[in-house]
Amino acid sequence: MKNQESKSIYENTRAADWDMSGYKKVFGFEENDLRGKKILDIGGGKAAFQEEALKSGIDVVSIDPLYGDSIKFDGSQKALKAAAVNEALPFQRDTFDLVLANCSSFYYIYQHYLFKQGLEEAISKGLLMLNQITNVLRDKGEAMLSFSSEYLPVFERILEEFKKNNSGTEAKIIESAGDTSLSIFFIKKQ
Ligand SMILES: C[S@@+](CC[C@H](N)C(=O)[O-])C[C@H]1O[C@@H](n2cnc3c(N)ncnc32)[C@H](O)[C@@H]1O
Repeated sequence: MKNQESKSIYENTRAADWDMSGYKKVFGFEENDLRGKKILDIGGGKAAFQEEALKSGIDVVSIDPLYGDSIKFDGSQKALKAAAVNEALPFQRDTFDLVLANCSSFYYIYQHYLFKQGLEEAISKGLLMLNQITNVLRDKGEAMLSFSSEYLPVFERILEEFKKNNSGTEAKIIESAGDTSLSIFFIKKQ
């Protein structure tokens, strides 16, 4: 698993502006499942999903390190796009009902950490991301993070470690609803 190899795999298989239909395909939800929920989209990229969701009255906050200035979130702003990373979420506890990360923070674990700093660092950063997400999720809130199935063993290790210290949170890896190259890390806060 060399960095260059993963880069070319990524470039050949992913677009960076998945819209609502793309998210529905990957995560297997319907638009109605999102209504009434406060949603965080981590690594929103061009934010096509957020824009379409907002047009349908669905409340999505989008973060990405590529966005402009970071903005302090007071919990009430709609259509917020803020510069932030999954490793340090700038939100208060118990803010969101649903957290999504499509081909973003989790997907990039192998590029940003695994290949550069090794397996233990990749696991540690994966756990940090999950802890940050768990913190901002409300009770019964869910998170779905897509990643390349090619690196399943790394994410299975993250799952194993996460479960050791989070017995009150359901955590599992499932297949993507409609993209066979992706798997989904799923958590549900009890
Ligand atoms: C391939 S794009 C996907 C964008 C969007 N989610 C979609 O499905 O179209 C990946 C995005 O994730 C962002 N990203 C990568 N690592 C991240 C992290 N640790 N935290 C937040 N965003 C991250 C990148 O800046 C990039 O915009």
